[in-house]
Amino acid sequence: MKVLVMVLMVMLDLVRTDLINSNVFMKVVPSMPSHISQCLLEKRSFNLISIRACSVLCSLQTNCLLFCLKGGTCIMYSAQVSSKWPGFSLDPKEITESFDECYSNWFVNSITPSIVAENISASKSYNIYTHPENMINGFYCQRHYFFCFSTSRVNSNRFWRADLGKPKRVSSIIITTRRIYEQFSEVEITLGNSSDYNNIRFDYYEGPSPVATDISFTPTNSVTGRYLHIQSFKNNHFSICDIVILG
Ligand SMILES: *[C@@H]1O[C@H](CO)[C@@H](O)[C@H](O)[C@H]1NC(C)=O
Ligand SMILES: *[C@@H]1O[C@H](CO)[C@@H](O)[C@H](O)[C@H]1NC(C)=O
Repeated sequence: MKVLVMVLMVMLDLVRTDLINSNVFMKVVPSMPSHISQCLLEKRSFNLISIRACSVLCSLQTNCLLFCLKGGTCIMYSAQVSSKWPGFSLDPKEITESFDECYSNWFVNSITPSIVAENISASKSYNIYTHPENMINGFYCQRHYFFCFSTSRVNSNRFWRADLGKPKRVSSIIITTRRIYEQFSEVEITLGNSSDYNNIRFDYYEGPSPVATDISFTPTNSVTGRYLHIQSFKNNHFSICDIVILG
């Protein structure tokens, strides 16, 4: 039986041989918050488990977005981990789960032409897990409010902003919304050269708020600017999970 499974895995391996090479899966820091268990899909142990075999198993699973190897076990998750995930260290009380290696296929932030956003700031976060940097290097797992940026509900001003370093030509901005709560509507993006972030509208999204979706903000003409501001006018939490800025 074991031999059969291995043969099958080798065959599948041949079919999907470009998986790792083509960056369908990207190596990420192999330390995750213990909440990752909520996104566990399956654990598989074999005598010889390779990265490639594990990637094949993950590809065969619906919703498998991350796989980790630990001592000969292939562990598959539906958690989304950005390529810039720094490993979990926000709260020292939090138990961290460590692996030998982890590979994510949620690599939105690493799309080559994506413009880097720096000097990130935002209105008050909902809690320590929902801080503004999560828009760049976040992690998110079904049913969890962690690791996206979320504002508190009572904020009158709900925004996330970043400095692009110098005026950059931006044609499109793609924002990933949260998985479970509908906290994305009446969203305006502005971009320009005024350092007080009082700039012209780039694009606007009315809603209704979708869940776990990539929303594209694409004006008719691209805009060149340095200061990027994303704001929700809706009287609710404002949650955003990832940003890709395309030139
Ligand atoms: C970030 O802000 C600092 C201080 O305002 C500034 O000196 C620096 O140029 C900014 N970085 C980028 C990439 O714009
Ligand atoms: C910002 O500055 C750049 C170059 O300095 C210019 O090309 C661009 O049109 C300016 N953007 C806006 C929105 O005024």
